[in-house]
Amino acid sequence: DWTMESFIEETVRQIRETVGEDEQVVCGLSGGVDSSVAAVLVHKAIGDRLTCIFVDHGLLRKNEAEQVMETFSGDFNMKVIKADEQDNFLGKLAGVTDPEEKRKIIGNEFIRVFEREAAKIAQIDYLVQGTLYTDVIESGTETAALIKSHHNVGGLPEDMKFKLIEPLNHLFKDEVRKVGEELGMPHDVVWRHPFPGPGLAIRVLGDVTGEKLDILREADAIVIEEIKKAGLYREIWQAFAILPNMKSVGVMGDSRTYAYTIGLRAVTSHDGMTADWYPFPHDVLARISNRVVNEVPHVNRMVYDITSKPPSTIEWE
Ligand code: XMP
Repeated sequence: DWTMESFIEETVRQIRETVGEDEQVVCGLSGGVDSSVAAVLVHKAIGDRLTCIFVDHGLLRKNEAEQVMETFSGDFNMKVIKADEQDNFLGKLAGVTDPEEKRKIIGNEFIRVFEREAAKIAQIDYLVQGTLYTDVIESGTETAALIKSHHNVGGLPEDMKFKLIEPLNHLFKDEVRKVGEELGMPHDVVWRHPFPGPGLAIRVLGDVTGEKLDILREADAIVIEEIKKAGLYREIWQAFAILPNMKSVGVMGDSRTYAYTIGLRAVTSHDGMTADWYPFPHDVLARISNRVVNEVPHVNRMVYDITSKPPSTIEWE
């Protein structure tokens, strides 16, 4: 019979059997649940023969990059290479407004940076992927899956061919979370809402700038903080702030303002394929709106997205 403990034991045993004593493994860390749990499992099996590569594309949520480093490099004492590529990605995205174009640019650059960092590692025999059972059927939602799709589509240069380790490919998301808990990973990581590979770039509608990203990050952090305080985080599939490319008129004291609107998106879902907008209690909406408008500079209005999927999508781009 299947328990988390026996799954972990068996998987660790298999990884040790697969990876030879003189072999090296690399893993792309995204901060998402899947790649995180996969990395910790492999680390448990082979320790420092695993090197993680964490590409900070500057499109992550507030404090996310710091948390990733604290958890994996700090708490779990894993070998993590962090690539600080914020300026690079922002430069590549300058003036780009088309959502699919943004995705393509970020996806391609991500692979390029990953390859460059991997090329600095003397020897790589295996690549860890946080592929889930559902990803096997269709393309998934995390960076690991993004890497995977790129590997499959474009292929890596000849000299970078490695074998794959996919320790989660028989598991569903809820099982991955249980494994993460059993491995002693922080709740913040284990229960984190899914986050798209292109990150905040597809939540800043239209052209992406550092200023807009900062505004969105602050608003998003307040949204998440209030949802957690209200004890609602786990019953929501995804909740986040959006920065539509619009300004509107407001009033502060005696004068008019002309500033950004923030959109609030929160949905329940089983797999992201369909979703229902989340019926927040009004007092939670009021707290979120008050705080965002009062605490985030350049914002004077907040709206709540009350469309389900279909006909809308979860993301706005
Ligand atoms: P939509 O917006 O299509 O999103 O309803 C469904 C799920 O997929 C995530 N998503 C993405 N994940 N790269 C990703 O890795 C992407 O380009 C992307 N676009 C959407 C979205 O967050 C939701 O969980």
